[in-house]
Amino acid sequence: MNLKPSILTLSLALAASAFAASNVPVYLDETRPLEERVEDALSRMTLREKVAMCHAEGKFASPGVARLGIPDLWMSDGPHGVRAEINWNDWGYSGRTNDSITAFPALTALAATWNPELSFNYGNAIAEEALYREKDVMLGPGVNIYRTPLNGRNFEYMGEDPYLAGELVVPYIKGMQQNGVAACVKHYALNNQEKWRGHIDVNLSDRALNEIYLPAFKRAIIDGGSWSIMGAYNKVRGQHACHNELLLNKILKDDWKFDGVVITDWGGAHDTREAALYGLDLEMGSYTNGLTSESAFTTDNYYLANPYLNMLEKGEVPMSTLDDKVRRLLRLNFRTAMNRQKPFGSVATPEHYAVAEEIGNEAIVLIKNNPVTKKGSPLLPIQADKYKSILVVGDNATRNLMAGGGSSELKPKDIVTPLDGLKAIYGDKIEYAQGYTAGRPMYGHADVIPQATVDSLRAQAVAMAKDAGLVVFIGGLNKNHFQDCEGGDRLEYGLPFGQPELINELQAVNPNIVVVLLTGNAVEMPWASKVPAIVEGWYLGSMAGKSIASVLSGKINPSGKLPFSIPARLEDNAAHHFGEISYPGDSIRQEYLEDILVGYRWHDSKKIPALYPFGHGLSYTTFQYGKPTASAKTISANESLTISIPVKNTGNMEGKETVQLYIGDDNASVLRPVKELKNFHKINLTPGAEEIVTFTVKPDDLKFYDDKTSSWKAEPGKFKAYIGSSSTDIRATVPFELK
Ligand code: BGC
Repeated sequence: MNLKPSILTLSLALAASAFAASNVPVYLDETRPLEERVEDALSRMTLREKVAMCHAEGKFASPGVARLGIPDLWMSDGPHGVRAEINWNDWGYSGRTNDSITAFPALTALAATWNPELSFNYGNAIAEEALYREKDVMLGPGVNIYRTPLNGRNFEYMGEDPYLAGELVVPYIKGMQQNGVAACVKHYALNNQEKWRGHIDVNLSDRALNEIYLPAFKRAIIDGGSWSIMGAYNKVRGQHACHNELLLNKILKDDWKFDGVVITDWGGAHDTREAALYGLDLEMGSYTNGLTSESAFTTDNYYLANPYLNMLEKGEVPMSTLDDKVRRLLRLNFRTAMNRQKPFGSVATPEHYAVAEEIGNEAIVLIKNNPVTKKGSPLLPIQADKYKSILVVGDNATRNLMAGGGSSELKPKDIVTPLDGLKAIYGDKIEYAQGYTAGRPMYGHADVIPQATVDSLRAQAVAMAKDAGLVVFIGGLNKNHFQDCEGGDRLEYGLPFGQPELINELQAVNPNIVVVLLTGNAVEMPWASKVPAIVEGWYLGSMAGKSIASVLSGKINPSGKLPFSIPARLEDNAAHHFGEISYPGDSIRQEYLEDILVGYRWHDSKKIPALYPFGHGLSYTTFQYGKPTASAKTISANESLTISIPVKNTGNMEGKETVQLYIGDDNASVLRPVKELKNFHKINLTPGAEEIVTFTVKPDDLKFYDDKTSSWKAEPGKFKAYIGSSSTDIRATVPFELK
């Protein structure tokens, strides 16, 4: 065999590739350190190319540098799936037929799993879908704290507790970014209501800022390593959050050492000088009022476009502001669009459906489960052989709950509705009556339903309920305007569309009734004492119906725990307690007068019990907590304390329990909540099995934010560790002292 020609070819090829390698510009050479590549690219860019990078070119795209082969950045909402393609320069959908995806459970539902592992899988799966859809940045997750049940966007966030939100946001980001897709944590910060979101000026104490509203963002940046963050629409202490000296320059970039990109919310920039100086890097969506209006305004006129160029040329703002922004944008580009190591991705795979379903299974909260008669067994799981028929009532049993809601709206490839899910298990036993109608999911206004329609739907459902074995009511909120929807807050705490009256009438004719709520928010439940069983089933995305049917039927033992308190009355919620200036503000300004006492911190401290407390969630089995043991009775400032407690499944079904650890400071010189969540473990136990759950109480867990010294501080004295199955169902208390 003559080897010569092939050796020749090989050596020519090697020489060519060596030649090519030596000619690869530093910024394209992935073997070089990131910062070297950033500096190299920056040094090759013209002033205009740099400015161009700092603002949008289309609704969801920002420019790269065509001359240098640096690609554009493509973004998508977020946070529950990859949104359908939007037109280049208006909010219409492009009508593509290849952009349907997996809809994952809403983030409130993810929070209700109390399961960080599932959050990692969520982030990973959504990133795989983003890759297939060729997106570089996913606009999510959101970690604004749940302050009022009226906030139209609570369903996109992770509840009322900063520790819980922090524990869940970190793995979501890690799971996502390992694929070369950036997370964009939002909306930084204090966008805790939709009403007047574009201008309301939020004022609060340093303690509330640091103890309640910032920690989940901080964890997203420092522990999650998020490559981008989205500014909020609102003002914070007089300055818009998207160019805010305190939030962006001081806290995010100086204190937390964030090296990624600050992106505006769409239309969140308002001033060139402030945008140049106060921490904004990328301006998107200007002159579109969120989702609602369009304008012919071109991107050249954006605050960070020609007006910025002019100011730079005149020396009115330093060039260093531009270089800093561009460095960050290049870094983001190298991490995502220009990352050659990233996989190709996939959409609507069985694996992604399994992730969505598993999260759904663990998210559903069994709020109440009583027997119908004194001697009977609890109503759930459904004992189907007891009933000739099962009547499903409610608009949400069949509604596409991924439509509407604002920017998080999704176009799922497949949807299993709750009615589909129940029919798959119970077949012909299932009957259906709509019971009420909610109208179409329209942005900006709500359908008015004629009274005759309301009456006839109700009469039909009540008549059918009389003859049914079991009634499964599936209602709640939806994604219509003024429900769980961006751009406005809810107008009432109660269930809309006549549902309270309907529930009352249904239970009056048939006591075998379970109320399943599909919401992203707490609702008023004046009917709670009249129905034996209540289930919170959230917005669970493509596989919602499977998870709901699995839990109702007992195929899955529920293990979700509420990520927010459900107050009996709206005025029992802290933000509402202080009147209009606290919520929604006077249209210009707002004061967070409840300060650090948000959610259960308020209910506990003011002794105003919630109807259903934070951390609450029942199971089809029972868990017995044993006697706790602690590594010490007294600890010094730098010491940790270890607390262990045995937990046993004393029922006869395998199940998961989230064991929660709260810490309370008994003698503080400042107001402190009675207790605060500092750790939790979710464990799985077969019947009869016992596990010892061990918590480490770290020195930081004892601290409060001291606004006099602007630092975290623990005061010596008596503390208590509370271990419980919810924030009020405390099973063991361990006192200890800090020296
Ligand atoms: C929302 C953001 C969203 C953006 C782009 C804004 O109205 O507040 O959360 O990512 O639009 O759709």
